[in-house]
Amino acid sequence: MAVGSMNVEEGTKAFPAKLTFQVFLCCVIAAVGGLMFGYDIGISGGVTSMDTFLLDFFPHVYEKKHRVHENNYCKFDDQLLQLFTSSLYLAGIFASFIASYVSRAFGRKPTIISASVFFLVGAILNLSAQNLGMLIGGRILLGFGIGFGNQTVPLFISEIAPARFRGGLNVMFQFLITIGILAASYVNYLTSTLKNGWRYSLGGAAVPALILLIGSFFIHETPASLIERGKDEKGKQVLRKIRGVEDIELEFNEIKYATEVSTKVKSPFKELFTNRENRPPLVCGTLLQFFQQFTGINVVMFYAPVLFQTMGSGNNASLISTVVTNGVNAIATIISLVMVDLAGRKCLLVEGAIQMTVTQMTIGGILLAHLKLVGPITGHAVPLIVLVLICIYVSGFAWSWGPLGWLVPSEIYPLEVRNAGYFCAVGMNMVCTFIIGQFFLSALCRFRSFLFFFFGVMNIIMGLFVVFYLPETKGVPVEEMAEKRWKTHSRWKKYFKD
Ligand code: BGC
Repeated sequence: MAVGSMNVEEGTKAFPAKLTFQVFLCCVIAAVGGLMFGYDIGISGGVTSMDTFLLDFFPHVYEKKHRVHENNYCKFDDQLLQLFTSSLYLAGIFASFIASYVSRAFGRKPTIISASVFFLVGAILNLSAQNLGMLIGGRILLGFGIGFGNQTVPLFISEIAPARFRGGLNVMFQFLITIGILAASYVNYLTSTLKNGWRYSLGGAAVPALILLIGSFFIHETPASLIERGKDEKGKQVLRKIRGVEDIELEFNEIKYATEVSTKVKSPFKELFTNRENRPPLVCGTLLQFFQQFTGINVVMFYAPVLFQTMGSGNNASLISTVVTNGVNAIATIISLVMVDLAGRKCLLVEGAIQMTVTQMTIGGILLAHLKLVGPITGHAVPLIVLVLICIYVSGFAWSWGPLGWLVPSEIYPLEVRNAGYFCAVGMNMVCTFIIGQFFLSALCRFRSFLFFFFGVMNIIMGLFVVFYLPETKGVPVEEMAEKRWKTHSRWKKYFKD
C-alpha cells in the first residue's frame, strides 16, 4: 500500500520511491527499541523515590529523606543510589561498541533481536531481585539491551526510509521513547502505594522487550546491510518491496557503489579517525549528542519526582506532576514528526535551544529566590509555576534536540564508517547520561539552583553551534550527504580534496 510518493528535493537526486506500508511497519516495529529505552528512563526516577524501594535497598537514604531539618537540596544525594540509575549507561557504552561490529557483520535485524533478548532477561532479573547485586546485574543487562537497540534502530530507520520521509520516520524512535517514559511514570504512580510496588515497575520493562522481540521477526533487513554483506539479489528484492516501485536500479547502484567503498575499509574506526573527510560528520554527530544531554533533560527525566519532592510536594503530587511533564513530552514530539521534513533540522534545533535557555534560567531564578537551604518553599504558587516552566522546557526539547540528537548522526556518515561513527554519537549519549545520572543529585546538593543557570548557558552554546556548523540535511539521500552537504559547507569544505 502506498501512502505517499517522493518529490525531488532541490539539489539532490530523486530515487523513485513511495512511502510503503512495508517501510512504515518496519520503522514502527524497530522504533519499539525506543519504547524500551524510554520505559527505563521513566521508571528509575520514580522507583528511587519510593519508600518501599529505599527501605529494601537503600535504608540510609530513606532515613535521610525523612529527617525534617535535612538540607533541601541534599535529601537524595547518595552515590550508590545514583549508581542504580546510571550503571545501565556504563554497560550501554560497552554494548553499543560491540553492537557497531555485530550490526556491520551480521546485519541490523539480528542486532535488534539481541537487544530485545538482553532487555527481557534484565527485566526478569530486576523483577525478582533479592539484593543489590541482582538489582545492578539486571540493570547491566538492560544496558546491553539499550546499547544494542540505540546503536541500531535509528540507523536501521535511516537506511530503510525514503529520503523525503526519513526525518519523520526517524522521529518515531524518539516518539516511542517518550511514550515509554510516559507509560513508566504512570506505572510508577499506580505501583507507588503497593507493597513491593517497585517490583512491578521494574518488571514492566519486559513488556516493550517482548513486543520488540516478536515484532522484529517481521521486519526486513536493510538493503544497504544486505548489499554490504554480498547479498545483492536479496538486497534488490527488498528494495523493490519497500520502495513499492520496480525501477530501483538508480538507488541500488548508489548503495552498491557505497558498499564497494565500504568493503575496502577493513578497520572502520581507524578510517573514521584518520581520514580527514570524516571529521565534519564525526564532530557534528558526536557533539549533537553531547549537547543533547547537556540541555539538562535527564535532570527532569530521572529526577523530576525527586525535584518536586525537594520543592515540598508530597509523594503522590510529585508523581502526578511527573506524569504531566511526560505527557507534554510525548505530545510535543508529534510536532517534530510533522515539522522535521518541512521546516528542516536546523530551524527546530535553534528554536528548541532558545526555548530551553529561557525556561532553565527562569527556573534557576525562582528557586534561588524561593527555596532556601532549609525550610519549606516560600510562595504557594511556586511549585505550580515551576511545573508549567518545566513543561515548556520539556516541549522545547521534545520537538528539537530529543529526536534530532538521534536522527542527524544517523544520516550524515558514509556507509563505510556509519556504524563506527554512529557509535561515537550513541557512546557520547551514554557517557553524558551516565555523568548526569551519577552526579546530578550531588551537583544539586552543592550548586543548588545555580545548576539551572549552567544548563541555560549550555543551551546558548549549542544553539550557536547549530547556526554556524551544522549543514541542513533535510531531504538529502544518505549516500549523497558528503557531495551535497559537507563539501559545500563553508566551514567544512576544507576537509575535502578537490
Ligand atoms: C534522550 C534521553 C532523554 C529522552 C527524553 C532522548 O532523546 O536521549 O536521554 O531522557 O530523550 O525524552
